[in-house]
Amino acid sequence: MKSFTFLHQDEKTKARVGILHTAHGDIPTPVFMPVGTQGTVKAMAPDRLKAIGVKMLLGNSYHLHLRPGEDLIGEMGGLHRFMSWDGSILTDSGGFQIFSLSGLVKIDDQGALFRSHLDGSLHNFTPETSMQIQQDIGADVVMILDQCVGYPANDFQVKTSTNRTLVWAKKCREAFQSDSQMLFGILQGGTLPELRRYSAEETVNIGFDGYAIGGLSVGEPKPIMYSIIDEVEPYLPKSQARYLMGVGSPDSIIEGVMRGIDMFDCVLPTRNARNSALLTWSGRMNIDRLEYSRDSNPIDPHCQCYTCQNFSRSYLRHLFKAGEILAAELATIHNLFFMVELMNRIRKAILNGSFQDLSSDLLARFQGQIV
Ligand code: GUN
Ligand code: ZN
Repeated sequence: MKSFTFLHQDEKTKARVGILHTAHGDIPTPVFMPVGTQGTVKAMAPDRLKAIGVKMLLGNSYHLHLRPGEDLIGEMGGLHRFMSWDGSILTDSGGFQIFSLSGLVKIDDQGALFRSHLDGSLHNFTPETSMQIQQDIGADVVMILDQCVGYPANDFQVKTSTNRTLVWAKKCREAFQSDSQMLFGILQGGTLPELRRYSAEETVNIGFDGYAIGGLSVGEPKPIMYSIIDEVEPYLPKSQARYLMGVGSPDSIIEGVMRGIDMFDCVLPTRNARNSALLTWSGRMNIDRLEYSRDSNPIDPHCQCYTCQNFSRSYLRHLFKAGEILAAELATIHNLFFMVELMNRIRKAILNGSFQDLSSDLLARFQGQIV
């Protein structure tokens, strides 16, 4: 099965338009994937996601392994059926969550022993178990097990984790067998350009259906993140998808797209929505503020989402102040609609040659903002 079709290259930047072919449909790229860590995008029923235009979600094998367990999900017919989502799903391997959430007990080339953040129970993730978990879950795109270091990290830590990720990458490649699922490699290398290039070359040598850039957006300044993407991009095959993990603010997406990235995921649009931080075409808006208490306008007059078509800023602010759960739902609908619309505009602009104009316009609106 061909995993990616490269459709169009922007003339002035490295931005590209393509299609990711998954067992649950074709995904136009560049794409933003909302995060559905526990088998649900928080506050969103699947029919609503579909209505918004979401085609692909991210799930986490770390969480789903701990609760309810891949065996149960497998018994229930796989994650798509379990959560009633017939779009595409990418699962992260657990590589990142083991280091950010769990109590790491021991790590070596065989795998990682860690304690659950839920109940302290011991679990062992190896490249082989991670492949098995993600195959039981039934993800369309499976990620290799990797080791990610934070920022700053010393050279020894970065080197060790990069080499270990390569050892694990080979083991994942050997353990993974599927006709319907894809396997993506993950580059590491911290902020060391030479190690990043090495990670890219070696990972591409192993050979995967697509390539993710991991270990970024972990606290380093954004210009460093962009320079690392510039560093590795020339080593990634043009004919395959590139995925920048854990990145999803509008400005970083634009900077990533212009550097040749096709896929993004991030909790920010959904998490911020639940904290009353909304994305608008004139920048970030906090709907909590007093100035919106008697404002009968929608969140964004240019937005066609269900929330903006039906509700005022005044009402949304009231829902947040009253702690009503509908606040989370309506705000998430709006922020995800914004992300889908942002990616639609980006794809359209790349295709009609106006991407550079769009990107400078949008960067001026979003740069320096937290969302
Ligand atoms: N999500 C964000 N960054 C990373 C990373 O480096 N590795 C994995 N597996 N997931 C991530
Ligand atoms: Zn809206």
